[in-house]
Amino acid sequence: MTGNDQTIPAPAFAGKRACVTGSSRGLGFDIATRLAEAGADVILVGRQAEQLTDAGARLFALTDRMPALCEADMGQNGELVRNLNGIGIDPNTIDIMVCAAGVSLPHRPFWEYDEADYRRCFDLNILGVQQAVAAVVHGMMGRKAGRIIAIGGTYGYRGVARSAIYSASKWALRGLVKSIAAELGPFGVTANIVSPGGVDGENLRAQFARSAEREGISFQAVYDRFAARACMNALVTGQDVAEMVCFLASDAAARITGQDMLVDAGTIV
Ligand SMILES: NC(=O)c1ccc[n+]([C@@H]2O[C@H](COP(=O)([O-])OP(=O)(O)OC[C@H]3O[C@@H](n4cnc5c(N)ncnc54)[C@H](OP(=O)(O)O)[C@@H]3O)[C@@H](O)[C@H]2O)c1
Repeated sequence: MTGNDQTIPAPAFAGKRACVTGSSRGLGFDIATRLAEAGADVILVGRQAEQLTDAGARLFALTDRMPALCEADMGQNGELVRNLNGIGIDPNTIDIMVCAAGVSLPHRPFWEYDEADYRRCFDLNILGVQQAVAAVVHGMMGRKAGRIIAIGGTYGYRGVARSAIYSASKWALRGLVKSIAAELGPFGVTANIVSPGGVDGENLRAQFARSAEREGISFQAVYDRFAARACMNALVTGQDVAEMVCFLASDAAARITGQDMLVDAGTIV
């Protein structure tokens, strides 16, 4: 995560409290780490205590800053507020809310998805974001300052065969966050989305391995085929996404709101 001299200097978020949902691994963890490196007091949120403890230790090793750990299921109404209060953190003291917890569904024809699939996806990808923002927004409005950033995806820009429900949730996220931006603009609070293309990480690599096995081709062939969808012939990294989140959370982005920033190596152009 370190070593990129294009990054925001360390004290950018000194004295700021940042909450990142879905941060015990994956993109959320990379974002939380970058915010901590830039001086924020970070709260990690996930469902599993053991994973959170492990993530906290890894973040400390990388940044020398110990995050707060909040066990909460973002698909369950009110759990974040209850559990933040339970660890002695008033949600209204949060300056930066990053909603990275999200779920995709197994690829299937649209007619095979059922109500349980729909609920699982929308309860976390939409209701979970609305609830996370609602938990912190009154403090931000009172201070006339705050940053809300949700993680979308390129599936919110096109129709995707065999991913109808997940794709619909990422389109819906854009409507949600842009509407939140419209409501919060008068209070000096910004709300934006960062939409990654395929992130070179555990999830995508596992998916590539399954495709390679099913099609009887090499892992590298699947990887190269995926990368070729982007103008830059590349996947993105968690750090690429984290840098954009940090930019939107910084003072430099004070007049950017209601936007969806694609970090996708030029997949959607
Ligand atoms: N990876 C990609 O290529 C990619 C591309 C475009 C967009 N995205 C989006 O980026 C976001 C993060 O994806 P990722 O691939 O980095 O995820 P990931 O590796 O699967 O990690 C998900 C994180 O969210 C937590 N989580 C899952 N369900 C939760 C819930 N109900 N409540 C609270 N925390 C929960 C997980 O911890 P627990 O399981 O312990 O709760 C974990 O910390 C998602 O919104 C995804 O749609 C990802």
